[in-house]
Amino acid sequence: MSEDKQNIGRDFDMPEKKRKGSKKIAIVAVIVVVLVAVGAGMMVWHESPTFCSTMCHVEGTYVDNYMQEQNAPGTDKYGNQVENTNAMMAVLHRETAATAKSEILCVDCHIPNFVELAHDGMNYVTGNYPLPRNERSLSALMSWDNKAGESFCANENCHVYLLGDDGQISMTKLAESTSTRAFNYHEQHHAALSLECNDCHKGHRASTVVCTACHEHENIDLPEGWLTYDEAQKALADGYAGVNA
Ligand code: HEC
Ligand code: HEC
Ligand code: HEC
Repeated sequence: MSEDKQNIGRDFDMPEKKRKGSKKIAIVAVIVVVLVAVGAGMMVWHESPTFCSTMCHVEGTYVDNYMQEQNAPGTDKYGNQVENTNAMMAVLHRETAATAKSEILCVDCHIPNFVELAHDGMNYVTGNYPLPRNERSLSALMSWDNKAGESFCANENCHVYLLGDDGQISMTKLAESTSTRAFNYHEQHHAALSLECNDCHKGHRASTVVCTACHEHENIDLPEGWLTYDEAQKALADGYAGVNA
């Protein structure tokens, strides 16, 4: 009998504990809901280019660069004249009929990575960054994800047709994509050059065919707005000098 009473006693205690518990759960649930809602709003906002410039004024340059009219004269991230804005990959890709997505946002190319955001955030807060920002190689931009530089451009979402069976970029397919050109920029003739896509295809300044460093006198057709190697080096030097003046 005394065992039963003890049991009953326990049973009577339970609902009170539960009630206290469920109050706590309700409060936690409200907080979670609010956080999720704020988080979801943040995620949507985070996707928009203005997020980048609002959070970090340095990015304003890149947002202005990206928002320029396509296929028209414009300027690069340093303010240099660019004959045709399509020579800057960020502008060329912004609105496009060539992909399933009609608009490529900052975060479609620069896929947010927590380690990178934390790293950049810390450096921003402590003022530990140069202006203009050092230009990043693709392998630097992808290092946070431990991926090859090429996967910045060719991955499961973008330029899929350039991938081989192993899911990595196929240099054969790349060379085939421009094989009808008088001079095939994608031909892998000099393994020692080991170029990354953005050695030529620049994100926020005029692209350049680096082969012109040596193949100057050949029939290399430069796409509109693109620069020779020497011109690109000059634009970079002028850009740095201009911004630091
Ligand atoms: C089509 C892809 C693409 C889009 C869209 C794009 N970028 Fe970039 N971005 C690049 C590439 C490629 C680089 C590497 C440097 C280069 O080649 O110019 C880069 C570099 C950067 C850098 C590093 C500093 C530097 O100059 O190298 C920042 C910061 C940046 N982008 C910000 C942005 C912001 C902000 C947006 C949206 C307004 C944006 N990018 C949209 C391709 C892109
Ligand atoms: C040596 C310079 C150079 C390098 C390196 C380079 N490209 Fe290109 N690429 C070009 C030029 C020049 C064009 C022609 C652009 C045009 O006509 O507007 C081109 C065109 C393209 C095109 C469009 C092809 C078509 O159908 O007309 C794609 C896609 C492309 N490149 C992807 C890449 C990728 C991905 C990489 C890196 C794995 C890369 N490129 C590396 C110079 C280069
Ligand atoms: C550092 C200088 C240098 C650069 C940069 C360079 N080349 Fe060459 N290239 C040469 C030399 C020298 C030869 C002739 C000797 C040989 O065949 O290797 C050559 C030969 C070639 C050939 C063989 C046919 C011919 O014209 O003689 C092709 C194709 C070629 N290069 C493509 C390219 C492409 C594409 C690029 C850019 C991605 C490039 N080269 C960048 C120096 C260069």
